[in-house]
Amino acid sequence: MCGIVGYIGDKNAYPILIKGLQRLEYRGYDSAGIAIHNSSLKTFKKKGKVNELETFVADKDTRGYIGIGHTRWATHGEPGNANAHPHTSMNGNFVLAHNGIIENYAELKEDLLKKGFVFQTETDTEVLVNLIEYFYNLNEVNNAELAVRLALSKVVGAYGIVILCKNEKDRIIAAKMGSPLVIGIGQGEYFLASDAGPIVEYTNSVIYLNDGNVAIIGKNSLTLKTIGNAPVNFKITKIDLSIGDIEKGDFDHYMLKEIFEQPKTIQDTYRGRIKPEQKDIVLGGLLDVFPKIVQAKRIIIIGCGTSWHAALLAEYLIEEYARVPVEVEYASEFRYRKPIINPGDVIIAVSQSGETADTLAAIKMAKKQGALILGICNIVGSSIARETDAGVYTHAGTEIGVASTKAFTAQVTVLSLFAFKLAKARGQIDQEFYEMLINEMLDIPDKVQTILLRNSNIKKVAEKYKDAVNALYLGRGYLFPVALEGALKLKEISYMHAEGYAAGEMKHGPIALVDDNLPVIVVSAKDGYYEKVLNNIQEVKARKGNIIAVVTESNNKLRNMADDIFEVPESHPAVAALLTVIPLQLFAYYIAVMRECNIDQPRNLAKSVTVE
Ligand code: F6R
Repeated sequence: MCGIVGYIGDKNAYPILIKGLQRLEYRGYDSAGIAIHNSSLKTFKKKGKVNELETFVADKDTRGYIGIGHTRWATHGEPGNANAHPHTSMNGNFVLAHNGIIENYAELKEDLLKKGFVFQTETDTEVLVNLIEYFYNLNEVNNAELAVRLALSKVVGAYGIVILCKNEKDRIIAAKMGSPLVIGIGQGEYFLASDAGPIVEYTNSVIYLNDGNVAIIGKNSLTLKTIGNAPVNFKITKIDLSIGDIEKGDFDHYMLKEIFEQPKTIQDTYRGRIKPEQKDIVLGGLLDVFPKIVQAKRIIIIGCGTSWHAALLAEYLIEEYARVPVEVEYASEFRYRKPIINPGDVIIAVSQSGETADTLAAIKMAKKQGALILGICNIVGSSIARETDAGVYTHAGTEIGVASTKAFTAQVTVLSLFAFKLAKARGQIDQEFYEMLINEMLDIPDKVQTILLRNSNIKKVAEKYKDAVNALYLGRGYLFPVALEGALKLKEISYMHAEGYAAGEMKHGPIALVDDNLPVIVVSAKDGYYEKVLNNIQEVKARKGNIIAVVTESNNKLRNMADDIFEVPESHPAVAALLTVIPLQLFAYYIAVMRECNIDQPRNLAKSVTVE
């Protein structure tokens, strides 16, 4: 949440900063601001999106070769011009942009108030920038880097920060604890950003800062140290990301682009892992720990939101095929509820961003209790990826639309391969069945493509239901998590209230909602639940609900009962989620477009939830 950028070099900083903020806007878009050092510190801030800042700044003097910027997702203080970052210290010596939360800001503020500091905003960030100024003004300090380190030694909380000091116009100071920060290395220039997106167009050499790192960056020098002033060695990583990966191309929205990328991203995710010649699955990132996983007494999978839905699906797959007990937990609950973690438990954290605060905290807690921790992340080098003992990347590419689509199908792909491999290794399925599952997976990209080609029908159905007030999504077995995911997609981007339910639970409450205004989206496959789902549909029909059914091509019974259908190709039930979710993503997308919602940046949301 919140995106920060920085630049120091020979180029004008402003265009680099503004473009960087646009690339990071998915992280927050309540307000934006930049500060430029050009003999003096100049700060420009504006409520709203980055383009509003751009318009506001258009006639201002933004010249300067050093600058920082911020796009905000409000935590402390309402979204507005004053609360926008960067924040300036009381005497104007420092400006600071911050991603994260300073937990002990209230007590620090009280102390500073007693020392005569005056505050303009309600933000925790203004407390931090004033704390830095307080230390700077002590006679024995008067050095920006030392002041920053002394201030950070008093801070409890999470931060990625970039700082400019009025009297030190040849450097940016940055620090990280909990919130991500990447430094891009150019020729005589450095770039800073919350993720590599704003950097790729200039360089592919980056350094991912670790927690507790403080960076002192000049245009030709970079020093990393700890808050306590110990030197830190850094590793330069080459990133494999291109500009095409992070641009919309011909699509109207990132979300639509990402939905349409799924045949490729699913293939990218299994490529190199499914070995068609050997008829085997090899998860390279887990090789060292796999014997331990095979012996696991229990697997606990944690995640949030869409990642939690992928985890839930994995529970069904692993228990059915590998016969290992699985528990699925919301990371936000798991981290606080004092769970029992036994030796022999394996914890899997699922996260697109690899930065979700609750998931990160949950694995840190489980690690202390000695569990083997695995990560399934999309962002290479992310905090969760680095915190885990081993893991598998999802290779979905950069996902910019706030509503997760291709990351979900990539997570499901990895978790399915994991379940199939584990089932085989534990002797629960034979080679023939294993090969059948592998072949089913190999067929998925073409089948997804077939569904995408039918998007005009999905658009027509969306037109019919776009003004509904509520929607109910039903599924059973593997398709229950898909129902949850479909409902989440609809509510987050179209603001239509939607509930996902296990179809069998309907008569225990949600059936009361059914009337002739309610669209009921039924996700079904010809699996062991099929007849039962048909009964559930009869119950809805008897109460005049409108049925939209996701059906397979030969599924005539359901087709005849439904008011509208989304057709998907036949598949084995174990991989059906990867197909049935696609029309639900498109349905949510088209409804949101028709309701004129902001698709890629839905209100109140942010892509990477780095605060709890
Ligand atoms: C929904 C969505 C969120 C995320 C959740 C976890 O479309 O994107 O629900 O799935 O915030 O994020 P990650 O996967 O980054 O941990």
